[in-house]
Formats: sequence, structure tokens, C-alpha cells
Amino acid sequence: MGGSRWGRAQLQQLVQQPLRAISFSYQDDGSEIQFSPSVKVRAPHLHGFGLNDARRALRMLAPRCSAIPCPGGQPMAHKSALVTGGTSGVGLSIVRELAQSGVYVHFIGTHQERGKRIERELNGARTPVCKFIQLDLSRLRGVRDFAHRFRSEVPELNLLLNVAGVMLPKRQETSEGIEKTLAINHLSAFLLSRELTPPLAKGSHARIINVSGAPAQVLKPRFDFEDIHFDKKYSGIRAAIDSVHAKTALTQSLAEKLRSRGIDVNAFYPGLVKSELGRHMPFPMSLVFAIASIFMSKASESGIYVSQSPNIEGVTGQLFVKKRARPLNFEHGYRKRLWGVTEDLIARAIT
Ligand SMILES: NC(=O)c1ccc[n+]([C@@H]2O[C@H](COP(=O)([O-])OP(=O)(O)OC[C@H]3O[C@@H](n4cnc5c(N)ncnc54)[C@H](OP(=O)(O)O)[C@@H]3O)[C@@H](O)[C@H]2O)c1
Repeated sequence: MGGSRWGRAQLQQLVQQPLRAISFSYQDDGSEIQFSPSVKVRAPHLHGFGLNDARRALRMLAPRCSAIPCPGGQPMAHKSALVTGGTSGVGLSIVRELAQSGVYVHFIGTHQERGKRIERELNGARTPVCKFIQLDLSRLRGVRDFAHRFRSEVPELNLLLNVAGVMLPKRQETSEGIEKTLAINHLSAFLLSRELTPPLAKGSHARIINVSGAPAQVLKPRFDFEDIHFDKKYSGIRAAIDSVHAKTALTQSLAEKLRSRGIDVNAFYPGLVKSELGRHMPFPMSLVFAIASIFMSKASESGIYVSQSPNIEGVTGQLFVKKRARPLNFEHGYRKRLWGVTEDLIARAIT
């Protein structure tokens, strides 16, 4: 990939060509740029044209192309997405929206029957818009193997949404020796983001989006490095919040690492959304969840916004609350330690 070797003058020359297009793709070696569906520029002389150059070119093109999504206008022309937690609650509301806007959505859950029912409902009788993938995210070896298969089948990905999550009343350990909430809510998301970087780096406007929690709960350093597996003190709520917090803090580190590869990484607070998060909780907590859900939204507007809005292209390392971005600002040393623990736990589980 060429990086940002193209100067403004060269880009200007490129965008002066008579183009009417809604999206573009380009070959890694810079030999072909396709402004689809109408114009294809074969340009062997464009050696060194990289993703950042392509993005800048698109920005320069935007005012001259009526079909390019305008701020506040049409959703982005994503092609493919992978959504974890896509069978229920927050994730399902985003899957529906993406599939309706023409994105091909791969969505993950554990329940085969439910996943297949959603797949049938969304695909209807037309060209398929989605595919259900049954995968248990608590088994990290399985997640790694899935990611390897996925990236050989889907070489170009535009969107990875890590939404799957659980809240468990009693502490449980996976067969790989990891506390289960941490494995599902945080480690699987980190592993998928890492293993799917190659297809994301090839996708235009690529985004990794991590579900988070309420800012008051997730924005302060709270991870207890002396009690990583919640052995000493366990509560379902604490494990859920701490693991989502860890994912949020490393969203900032991933954003820094992946900026040069053209991938935006953000987190979002979904708001209060009707879901089955309380499904494992015993009475009376289950009742509290059931009553509270009466007042909750059916869909996560923030989730839909961060997945689709063209307005936030290039915005990275933020926590979105509704449509407002708040910069993630965790201290470097804290994130470095958390990153190390995360990589270590994954390495021990999958080797
Ligand atoms: N709902 C809210 O108001 C709210 C607010 C703040 C934050 N959140 C966060 O949003 C995330 C999603 O919660 P939700 O409310 O949408 O809950 P939900 O309705 O229970 O959905 C959870 C999703 O995760 C999937 N999942 C759970 N365990 C899995 C596993 N082992 N492997 C693969 N997939 C698994 C479920 O799939 P299956 O059912 O097929 O297993 C389901 O699709 C959680 O992290 C939660 O903390 C939610």
C-alpha cells in the first residue's frame, strides 16, 4: 500500500477527471482506481497511491459529485459488515438497519434457530442481505479459527461491530480458564479486531465499533489488575461494566495503532435499549430488567449513527453518546498495562 505519498497537485489532477460516482475502490498496487458504478480509471502511472490518498481524493471529489453522500444525508456506501451480538437487543437493531440500507451483514450469535429465523426474515425472497454465523465467542481458539476462515472468504471488510455481551449472576470460567464475561465482552472483541485488521485495511471507510456503557461508568480507570478474573470479588454487574470498560479503554489504543491503516476505531454508548441482557439474572433482578425494558428504546440510535453516518469519516478514538463524540483520554501507562494483560490472556487461551 502506498501510504500518503501523493501530493495535493497530483490529487487535484486526478479529481479533475469527469467523474460521477458514489463510491470507489482501488487495487493495492495502485494500478486501478474504480469510481463505481460509472467510471473506471486505469492508471498504471498511479504507483504509490494509497488508502489515505484515496480518502483525500474522495473528499475533494465530494462537492462535485451529487451522488456522494452529503453530511447528514444518505448512509455510507459500506459493502460488508460483521456484527457480533447481532441476534438480539442493541446488535440486532443495528443489523436490521444495515441490511435495509444495502450492506451485506454477517452476524454472529450462539442460538442457531434464532439466528436462522432472523436471517430468513431479513433476506425474504430477494437477493440475500445477510448471513448468520453460529459462534461461541467465549472460546477464544474458536474465535481465532473463525477469523482466519472469515478473512480468506471475505478479503475486504468495511465494518466490524463488537456488540456481543453478557451479564452473568454467578462467576463462570470458560474451558480455556478465563472468566466468561471478560472473554465474551472484551477479549473476543479485541481478538476479532486484531485478526480482521487485514480485510478491514482493504475496505474503504473501514470502521471498528465497540459497544460501551454509560460514560460515568466506563470512562474512569477501574480495571483491577490484582483481580483480573474476578476471583476475589464477583458481581454480574461489576464484571459486565469492568469488561466493557476494558474494551473502551483499548478502543483508544487501537484507534492510535490503526490510524495509519485507514481504519477508524470508536466506541458508543447504546443508550437504554430493550434487550435480553437480564436473561440470566435471577428474580428479583430479572423483574427489574423486565419492568425497565418497558421504558427503553427498540433500537440503538447511537449504534446506527456510528455505523452508518458519513459525517464521522476519519473520526477515531472517541466514545459516541447519541451523536456526540467524546475523546477517549485514558492515561498511556494504564492502557499499556491493560493491553499487555489482554494480549497475555488471549495468548494463553489460544496456544
Ligand atoms: N441494552 C442496553 O440498554 C445496554 C446499555 C449499555 C450497554 N449495553 C451493552 O451492550 C451489549 C449487548 O447487550 P444487549 O443489551 O444487546 O444484550 P442481549 O439482548 O442479551 O444481546 C446479547 C447478544 O450477545 C450475543 N452473545 C452472548 N453471549 C455470546 C457468546 N458466548 N457467543 C456469541 N454471542 C454471544 C447474544 O447472542 P445469542 O443470544 O445468540 O447467544 C446476543 O446477540 C452488552 O455488552 C451490554 O453491556 C447494553
